[in-house]
Amino acid sequence: MSTAIHEDIEEVLISADEIQEKLGELAKQISEDYRDKDLLLVGVLKGAFVFMSDLARHIELPLEFDFMAVSSYGSATKSSGVVRILKDLDYEISGRHVLLVEDIIDSGLTISYLLRYLQARGPASLEICSLFWKRGEQAVPLDVKYPGFEIPPVFVVGYGLDYAERYRNLPYIGVLKPSAYASEGPP
Ligand code: IMP
Ligand code: MG
Repeated sequence: MSTAIHEDIEEVLISADEIQEKLGELAKQISEDYRDKDLLLVGVLKGAFVFMSDLARHIELPLEFDFMAVSSYGSATKSSGVVRILKDLDYEISGRHVLLVEDIIDSGLTISYLLRYLQARGPASLEICSLFWKRGEQAVPLDVKYPGFEIPPVFVVGYGLDYAERYRNLPYIGVLKPSAYASEGPP
C-alpha cells in the first residue's frame, strides 16, 4: 500500500466539486422543508460524519446533532439486515423532526433497520438523506426523500467511506487500484 492516498485511486467516480454542489442543493431543500420545525440530524457513524458535517454547514436553520454507531452481522462484505447497535442516541427523539443522514445505501438493510428502530421511538417525522446509493442493489424498497448520487454497484472509498478504515478523508469518491487491497481483493 502506498503512503499517498490519492495514488491508490484508480478512478474518481464523483469529484469533490460535484459533491459540494450537490450538498448545496440538498441543504437548500432541507432548509425550506424544515423552516419552522425543530430539526435533529442523526448521523450513522462512522461513514456519515464527513457528509453530515459538510451538509449541516450548508443548512441555514438552527439544528441539533446526534449520532448512532452500528455494525452489521453477517459476512464482511454484505450486510445481513441484522444490525448491532454500538452507540445509541444520546437524546430522546419523541416528538422531534428527525433526518437520518447516511453515507451510502447498498442493500438498504442497515437503513431499514434504523428506520424501524427510530420510528418506534415516536418522532414527529422521520426522513432519510443519503449521499450515495448503489444502482439496482436495494433488497428492500426505500423512500429516500433527500438522495444524492446514484453510483454503479462497485466498492467505493472516500468522503467518509473506508476500506479497512482508510481513505475516509478523500474529498471525492473513487475506486481503489487492485494493488491497494489486501490479497483477498475488493470486499
Ligand atoms: P447496506 O445495509 O447493504 O445498505 O450497507 C450500507 C453500509 O455498508 C454503509 O453504511 C457503508 O458503511 C457500507 N458500504 C456499502 N457500500 C460501501 C462501499 O462501496 N464502500 C464502503 N462502504 C460501503
Ligand atoms: Mg455507513
